[in-house]
Amino acid sequence: MRKPIIAGNWKMYKTLSEAKQFAEEVKGLAPDPVKLDTVICAPALFLDQLAQVVKDSPVYVGAQTMHSESEGAFTGEVSPVQLADLGVDFVILGHSERREYFNETDEAVNKKVHAAFDHYLIPIICVGETLEEREAGNTTSKVEGQVEKALADLTADQVKRAVIAYEPIWAIGTGKTATSEDANEVCGAIRAKVESLFGQNVAEAVRVQYGGSVKPENIEELLTMEHIDGALVGGASLQPASFLKLLEAGANA
Ligand code: 13P
Repeated sequence: MRKPIIAGNWKMYKTLSEAKQFAEEVKGLAPDPVKLDTVICAPALFLDQLAQVVKDSPVYVGAQTMHSESEGAFTGEVSPVQLADLGVDFVILGHSERREYFNETDEAVNKKVHAAFDHYLIPIICVGETLEEREAGNTTSKVEGQVEKALADLTADQVKRAVIAYEPIWAIGTGKTATSEDANEVCGAIRAKVESLFGQNVAEAVRVQYGGSVKPENIEELLTMEHIDGALVGGASLQPASFLKLLEAGANA
């Protein structure tokens, strides 16, 4: 049985005081960590204080990106050592917005995934196709290729602990969700790819999330699907009431 994982990706939203208020409101109401992993992926600026607010609660804090090097002359970047030192547990890597606007390549994502494991951070590795790729029938090949490159040279034990988020780019922030069946099909293809690379035990353990216009109204059905183990949520993670509804659905899945 894979434990569901619901992660909010706040992107570049909220001020520090709003972030802290949100965490104060949610931390006491988040479901039992035996049933669900709850993660808030906040702007790097807030991670220190958020980690302190949610300490001793079921809520984990995650970053939205990081550099692959531990330290160095990389102006403006944040390192895995710095994140781990703050008590951050998760890091989103290879989000389509990072790939599109910041030229993040599959090779860079792979380096970052290795760096995350080196510093005891759990990577949430994002993959997904554009609308053109879907319409051309290239969804599976695109996503399988991204998965293979992101996981290159990892150990089976590391891949078991990784989280892969399938986020079709056309469904992000658009209000268009993939149907549960379509999302499940691609998440199943991701699991099959992991099986072909790392074996059945690893494929059964790795958690695959769906992301793209997930809301309280559609999460329950998505989570009934065999290969969908949780959600990576943008817009609907920004308000405590809506995020808590997502968490409740996750805990009951
Ligand atoms: P939305 O939930 O706002 O569509 O964003 C999805 C996403 O990009 C999460 O990483």
